Amino acid sequence: MKFSKLKDEIIRIIDNNANKEDNLKEICNILRTEISYYDWVGFYFKNGEKEELKLAQFSGKPTEHTIIPFGKGICGQVALSNKKYIVQDVSEQDNYISCGIDVKSEIVIPIFKDGKNIGQIDIDSHQLNPFSKTDEELLVFVCDQVSSLYF
Ligand code: SME
Repeated sequence: MKFSKLKDEIIRIIDNNANKEDNLKEICNILRTEISYYDWVGFYFKNGEKEELKLAQFSGKPTEHTIIPFGKGICGQVALSNKKYIVQDVSEQDNYISCGIDVKSEIVIPIFKDGKNIGQIDIDSHQLNPFSKTDEELLVFVCDQVSSLYF
């Protein structure tokens, strides 16, 4: 599916009045199914008042990393920096939490609500160097849409 069509699908999912959890799950599934190099797609959100991320919905192999302290790994760094993080080769990272030897690259985009970093989308790929500006653009769009689910 083309990225433009995928964006339409994301809007359809957000507008379908299902609960937030089902919407997030469907977004994970569609991204992983439609984009060949997306092997794991998940959402992490700030865990209440704690300085940590908690895994919400995901699509792909279950991970033991359901809680990630701020500052740890790529996800924890994005929680503090409020900036997207594109890692085309995870072997070059020191502060990285591995979710399996198959994972070669990762992209994490923060989700903002009223200017506050509330969580992120995290994508793992089994390919080296797979992410381009169009992935970034699509995922920023997804995060903006997901933000509208939070009040
Ligand atoms: N690799 C991530 C941990 C989460 S998993 O990819 C699902 C990180 O370094 O933060």
